[in-house]
Amino acid sequence: MLSIVVLISGGGSNLRALLDATSDDDYPARIVAVGSDTDADGLAHAEAFGVPSFTVVPTSFASRADWGDELLQQVQQWSPDLVVCAGFMRILPPRFVEALSPQLINTHPALLPLFPGAHAVRDALAAGARETGVTVHIVDEGVDTGPTLVQRVVPVLPGDTEHVLQERIKTVERDLLVQTVRNIATGTIDLDTIHHSNRSTTTP
Ligand code: GAR
Repeated sequence: MLSIVVLISGGGSNLRALLDATSDDDYPARIVAVGSDTDADGLAHAEAFGVPSFTVVPTSFASRADWGDELLQQVQQWSPDLVVCAGFMRILPPRFVEALSPQLINTHPALLPLFPGAHAVRDALAAGARETGVTVHIVDEGVDTGPTLVQRVVPVLPGDTEHVLQERIKTVERDLLVQTVRNIATGTIDLDTIHHSNRSTTTP
């Protein structure tokens, strides 16, 4: 059984999808804790499922590195097999990434490398993209630059607003995230292998 810590910043619909999935005995993963950088609405989902949560607010620390160290300590206290960033809207400091990678994944609402960053849906609309999507990837020290595990395409439709497109993406995203975590838990996706093969192709 794969144990997971999920990190969120917002409404937590992806967290909710994972919590729903893990309440099925046949699902091969369990969420042991939920972390946030803010008083996120999504923490209510953790509470509803009786899952403990913690909040580490960056403004309480002298530096981003100090914040990251505290966040790391809070995460590691649960000894998770995997950490899932599901709408966690902060860039993780290098020490945090080094300590957990490649057992540290993120879901992003675009087909990376297109539209990285905090406004992927808005950026896709502004660029006039006809399609966008979801990427689940390993987190590295960059902004949405780590090795891709899986992607799914979502059409951009005439008249889409940012909200409408975001909701269409999130419907696909929740399903993809639940499936990807299952595949990691069963070994169908091997994070170490993907991480190492990516390093050997990018490192001279
Ligand atoms: C998700 O679409 C996630 O991909 C995105 O925030 C949303 C959170 O939704 N993350 C990013 O944009 C990170 N760059 P949720 O809180 O309802 O799960």
